[in-house]
Amino acid sequence: GEAELGPYRHFMQKEIFEQPRAVGDTLQDIDAIMPELFGDGAHAVFRAIDRVLILACGTSYYAGLTARYWIESLAGIPVDVEIASEYRYRTSVPDPRTLVVTISQSGETADTLAALKHARSLGMEHTLTICNVATSAMVRECKLAFITRAGVEIGVASTKAFTTQLTALYLLTLALAQTRGRLDAAAEEQAIKSLRHLPAAVSAVLALEPQIIAWAERFASKENALFLGRGMHYPIALEGALKLKEISYIHAEAYPAGELKHGPLALVTDAMPVITIAPHDELLEKLKSNMQEVRARGGELYVFADADSQIASAEGMHVIRMPEHYGRLSPILHTVPLQLLAYHTACARGTDVDKPRNLAKSVTVE
Ligand code: G6P
Repeated sequence: GEAELGPYRHFMQKEIFEQPRAVGDTLQDIDAIMPELFGDGAHAVFRAIDRVLILACGTSYYAGLTARYWIESLAGIPVDVEIASEYRYRTSVPDPRTLVVTISQSGETADTLAALKHARSLGMEHTLTICNVATSAMVRECKLAFITRAGVEIGVASTKAFTTQLTALYLLTLALAQTRGRLDAAAEEQAIKSLRHLPAAVSAVLALEPQIIAWAERFASKENALFLGRGMHYPIALEGALKLKEISYIHAEAYPAGELKHGPLALVTDAMPVITIAPHDELLEKLKSNMQEVRARGGELYVFADADSQIASAEGMHVIRMPEHYGRLSPILHTVPLQLLAYHTACARGTDVDKPRNLAKSVTVE
């Protein structure tokens, strides 16, 4: 009802703006990193594994793809991420020393539950879920669990569930790193400090909404869009493209920018907006040359840059500057403007934002 929506037009918009609260609640008052954040016995489990297998669908799968960058670089543990509906029907090579991690907002997605059972049937007993519903089947079925505190998510297109999943997965990364002796007290303190600042950092990004509305008005007439990211921002580009598809019905694809020349560059014309995630990181210079390839073909670039990215607005190059550079947690912040862009583009096209055609909030059948 209208009372619940408050000043917002749709639940999706309300849920986007709830993210500082949702992320803050998910962090609760965590003042130390420890395996027990994931349940009793987590320490023994984390010591008993030497690989991670992440299983999920949809937006939750993209959270898993992001976590792979974190877990491999910080904890030094090899990670596979699989789409649940593919994994369950694929002949794979099981390893009992695997931590099987399911990610699910609802905890009821049939494919993810079936993939979990499949992994167990292959002898993998170390199971953990990152889930938003404490009473769900997924939480019952997994040995370990971390409950995100996004609160009830009503919009079919997932927003606050995703950023809280990422927050939980970063905590998991830190806990795994710690059990490997890869997180000393100083690094732990630093990580907690930047996690604590996340809600305020997300709020600062939300303040970019007016600039994003101006972009969305131009996007509304497009039929195609391309999203580019590199490294840990590639999964965020995938999520940005998914959001745009789901609610605005604009065809969107995401590519890791280095792969442009192997195909999608053929699609680039002045009718193709190219949304680029361009934080100031070690891949920025490479990314800038990918952007030049787009410009040379008349593609219009819409760039989310940092203060330090040194990318200026110019002909065919539109830039929104993110308030701060956020190191490894930057994927969480870069998600937010892409949610807003999809949302306002959908509003401009007049679609049913909270209930997009053909989609369900929770897919409990195969
Ligand atoms: C549906 C929803 C998506 C969600 C996916 C996985 O497709 O529309 O927003 O990401 O299911 O759902 P889960 O509850 O398992 O995260």
